[in-house]
Amino acid sequence: MITIKSDREIELMRNAGKLAGLCLTEMGKLVKAGATPLELDQACREWTARHEAIPAPLNYKGFPSSLCVSVNDVVCHGIPDNRPFQNGDIVNLDVTPILNGYHGDTNATFFVGEVPEKVQQFVETARESMWAGIRQVRPGNTVGDIGHAIDTLVRARGYSVVLEYCGHGIGRNFHEDPVIIHVGRPKHGVILKAGMTFTIEPMINMGKAKTVLDEEDGWTARTADGSLSAQFEHTVLVTPTGVEVLTLRPGEKIPEPK
Ligand code: MF3
Ligand code: CO
Ligand code: CO
Repeated sequence: MITIKSDREIELMRNAGKLAGLCLTEMGKLVKAGATPLELDQACREWTARHEAIPAPLNYKGFPSSLCVSVNDVVCHGIPDNRPFQNGDIVNLDVTPILNGYHGDTNATFFVGEVPEKVQQFVETARESMWAGIRQVRPGNTVGDIGHAIDTLVRARGYSVVLEYCGHGIGRNFHEDPVIIHVGRPKHGVILKAGMTFTIEPMINMGKAKTVLDEEDGWTARTADGSLSAQFEHTVLVTPTGVEVLTLRPGEKIPEPK
């Protein structure tokens, strides 16, 4: 069942989304060589509590931490550990505060120190692909339009889109309908309507799309071929005329298409 948010719920989603963007900005400042994912976990837990919110990941289906930290070949759902970040790493931070009962879900991939030009271009493609998907959001367009825009851009650059993990409706629940798959056929799938809120969060791999789940922890997804993976995520609202990005960070703007 896809929920259409009322004006009051939209206001609550705006507040949660804004807090999520702020949280991601603050956590991103802590990504430096020598810092550890567990330090970020503690920082995220404390920051969220100070802002009268709850970190949704903590204890979600048994997830042990307040945010996901996914380094290099980790596609998503990395569990914070005590391995220090190293120069050249790419690090995705995914935060989801719950504020007054509503979720804001956003992530970004950060660089540790100097990252090779080729890797920077790859990560930029992940970011651009998220925006290409967001640009398709308006009433009457479909989930297939979003996926098609993302996959077309990513494949044109020689990378691949992960299929096993998807965007999702969001609101009172962390994950609601509809499923937002990051590939698709134009004009196919769920038709977007004003008042829907969902995430767009493409994970792209430098090599093949296939992922493997860590059998020991049951959470960490890695690329099967060991190649790098990058991701960006925003929570969006379908408005009567188009899209509102609810998790924009301070100073972040919707980029013009290239
Ligand atoms: N924030 C992730 C998403 O974008 C979900 C993380 S689930 C967790 O949907 F349990 F790992 F936190
Ligand atoms: Co999400
Ligand atoms: Co997320």
